[in-house]
Amino acid sequence: KEIKLFAPATVANVAAGFDILGFALEKPGDEIIIKRSNTPGIRIINQSSFTSMPLAPEKNTSGVALQAFLNHLESKQGFEITFLKKVKPGSGIGSSAASSAAAVFGANELLDRPLSTKDLVIFAMEGERCASGSAHADNVAPALLGGFVLIRSYRPLDIVPLPTPEQLYCSIIHPQIELKTEDARKVLRKQITLQDAITQWGNTAGLIAGLFMEDYGLIGRSLQDVIIEPIRSVLIPGYENMKEAAMTAGALGCNISGSGPSLFAFSTSSDKATHIAESMQKVCSSLNIDSDIYVSRV
Ligand code: HSE
Repeated sequence: KEIKLFAPATVANVAAGFDILGFALEKPGDEIIIKRSNTPGIRIINQSSFTSMPLAPEKNTSGVALQAFLNHLESKQGFEITFLKKVKPGSGIGSSAASSAAAVFGANELLDRPLSTKDLVIFAMEGERCASGSAHADNVAPALLGGFVLIRSYRPLDIVPLPTPEQLYCSIIHPQIELKTEDARKVLRKQITLQDAITQWGNTAGLIAGLFMEDYGLIGRSLQDVIIEPIRSVLIPGYENMKEAAMTAGALGCNISGSGPSLFAFSTSSDKATHIAESMQKVCSSLNIDSDIYVSRV
């Protein structure tokens, strides 16, 4: 028995919600086939276009996540995972998370669902620890559960799915520069001022209220980050110009996707979202940086 799975790319942080907020995109995403094997151990086969993926299960994010899940179940079941498509690593749209989510979700299905999807988050987080040195859940939780997800607490883990307004569209630009999450975390300040904390939690709460109230204006004005964005945006060439282009093209708001280098922008129609993505891409092209763009409903 084997199953083919799609695991979506995700946008983590969503401006003010560093490590606690994320949402899933309709596309792009990873495609894998997972099957049980008769021999113990995890075997990874890469048929995607990204040749640099480690195949040793203890170095592969999905291998690590799956092993954590199997350890919890005290299962010696062997699995084979074949990657058909892979979100580009180092993109800022949850490449490692998609792999980890797909592996644990698929294995749970093949073992006749011993755990709920929500309970799988903690194992997929081990894949993130392997990829970036930090077991954050703001990519893996939405990759597993879909939609917007809040991580209310890490200890203990408290995952809260949030509603997604009907007309919310997301534009993504992925400039072809590699930014490692591990490095983009090292540069962050460990201490912040009370004034910044007040601004930040106002915006986090505003965004969540906006999702519940389907208030697109409130969602847009809450997409501000006074703590992380000022530091990380410096690592993304043309960041301010791309953001300005998105806003001029009608975005509700725009910010860094995860740890970058991708940017995301919200809008209320597919046409607007396409126009916004193309406007950001023009800026990137003017800097001679290649980029991919995606438009997706949230
Ligand atoms: N919250 C994480 C970070 C997401 O910003 O470092 C990484 O994709």
